[in-house]
Amino acid sequence: MSLGKFIVIEGIEGAGKSSAIEVVKRILAENNIEFISTREPGGTPLAESLRDIVKSAEHNEVLTQETELLLMYAARSQLLANRILPALNSGKWVIGDRHDLSSRAYQGGGRQFDDQVMDVVADVTLKGFKPDLTLYLDITPEQGLSRAQARGELDRIELEKIEFFHRVRDKYCEIAANDQTIITIDASDEMTLVHKNIRQQLAIFISENMETH
Ligand code: TMP
Repeated sequence: MSLGKFIVIEGIEGAGKSSAIEVVKRILAENNIEFISTREPGGTPLAESLRDIVKSAEHNEVLTQETELLLMYAARSQLLANRILPALNSGKWVIGDRHDLSSRAYQGGGRQFDDQVMDVVADVTLKGFKPDLTLYLDITPEQGLSRAQARGELDRIELEKIEFFHRVRDKYCEIAANDQTIITIDASDEMTLVHKNIRQQLAIFISENMETH
C-alpha cells in the first residue's frame, strides 16, 4: 500500500483557512482520493482538550509562553501518532488545518522563541516528519483581524496586539520563502480568485503525485 500525502493549510486569523479547506476537500473528492481532515491544536479527544486550554481566555492564572509552546506540541504529538500517521500509512491523504508551521510562526515569530528551541521541540515531537504540501494564505494582520473580529468573540491568542501578528506573518513569509513545499497564496484577493489559485496549485500537486496515491 502506498503512502498518502499530507496537505496543510496555514495562515493568520481571518486569512480564509476554513473556506480554503472546503475547496481542498472538494478537489480531493473530485479526484477520488480518500482523505481525512484534522485541525491543530486538536483532532483527537485529548488534543481537543489541550486546544480548549490554549484557546480559553478565562484561566485564573497566567498561561505561560512555555506552557503554550509545549501544549501545542503535546497536541501535535497525539494527533500525529493517533490520526495522521495511521491515515497516511493506510494510503489516505490528510488535510491539516494548521501544523508545525503555525508553531514556528506563532511561538517562534509571535512569542519570539529561538529557532534552536523550536528545532529541539519540533525534533522531539515530529522526528523529521513534515507535510508534503503547505498552502500558506498570506494576508496583512489588519485585514485578517478585522475579518476575524467581524466573526465574533476573540480567543486568548486573537486578543494579542497587532505587533504580535506582524511578527507571526513575518515568520510565515520568511519560512515560506525558503521552503519549496510551502506555496504562498495571496489571500487578500477576492475569494473566487483565491480559490481558483488553490485549485491550480492542487491540480499540479495531484498530477505529480497521482501514481503514488
Ligand atoms: P484556529 O485554528 O481556530 O485558528 O485557532 C488556533 C489558534 O492557535 C490560532 O490563534 C493559532 C494558534 N496556534 C499557535 O499559536 N500555535 C500552533 O502551533 C497552532 C497549531 C495554533
